[in-house]
Amino acid sequence: MPDKTKILFFGDVSGTLGREGVKKMAPKWKKEHQTDVIIANVENLAHNKGLTLRTMAEMDEAGVEIYTGGNHIWKKYELDKFAKETDYKIAAPANDNRCPEKYLFQTIEINETKLVVINLNGRTFMEHETTISNPFTKIDELLQQVPKDANIIIDMHAEATSDKRALGLYLDGRVSTVVGTHTHIPTADAQILAEGTGYLTDIGMVGAYPSVLGIKKEIIIEKFLTETKIMHDLPTTGQIEVNAVLLEIDNRTHKTTDIKSLREIIN
Ligand code: FE2
Repeated sequence: MPDKTKILFFGDVSGTLGREGVKKMAPKWKKEHQTDVIIANVENLAHNKGLTLRTMAEMDEAGVEIYTGGNHIWKKYELDKFAKETDYKIAAPANDNRCPEKYLFQTIEINETKLVVINLNGRTFMEHETTISNPFTKIDELLQQVPKDANIIIDMHAEATSDKRALGLYLDGRVSTVVGTHTHIPTADAQILAEGTGYLTDIGMVGAYPSVLGIKKEIIIEKFLTETKIMHDLPTTGQIEVNAVLLEIDNRTHKTTDIKSLREIIN
């Protein structure tokens, strides 16, 4: 069995330009860093949130094998329907009580080692969805159900840095890696915690550059100037920022041995 598994994980892929960014950088980074598997957060994959059959097919073609979600993943498509009709390996927020059984976590076998991917939704500063339960108690419960002797990656989709940081420290030594998504801004704190869990507060997005979280900057500035609600819109042409994290996990100890942020601006 190979000693290590190398993983490339793209943060929130946002709209047309986000998908373009993954299509351009996935093959390049996979080759350059010799990665074994590609993961992407797809809760904003389609134009203005959610995912569709067509946009998922684009990611599949780009080589993404496992998908994570977040608070907007249900926006365009009933995930129950999606779960029945497709076979994509999606880890949707496991602490959302609407989560279909099939999407509670994902497992694949790489290098004769199991890789488990779990997605959780934070609650601090997020829309008060009554369906979201405590991610800390939920993960304790889930870790009893997932295969033992596996590399385990958690995507904590949360607004507050404290939610992500606390979860990382809470799970140190119990999972391989905890990374964050949702704020779309990459943080500079990739690290290995005391007990060997890799940690990064937010991977950052793949989407329009410059923009405000992938949305046309003029719209968001106007919203702040007028203090009114304005329909969001995403640019479909222009520069793209691509943010991802590169992980190396030891297949015997299941600890992270290397974690590094990747970032590229494409013209
Ligand atoms: Fe989100």
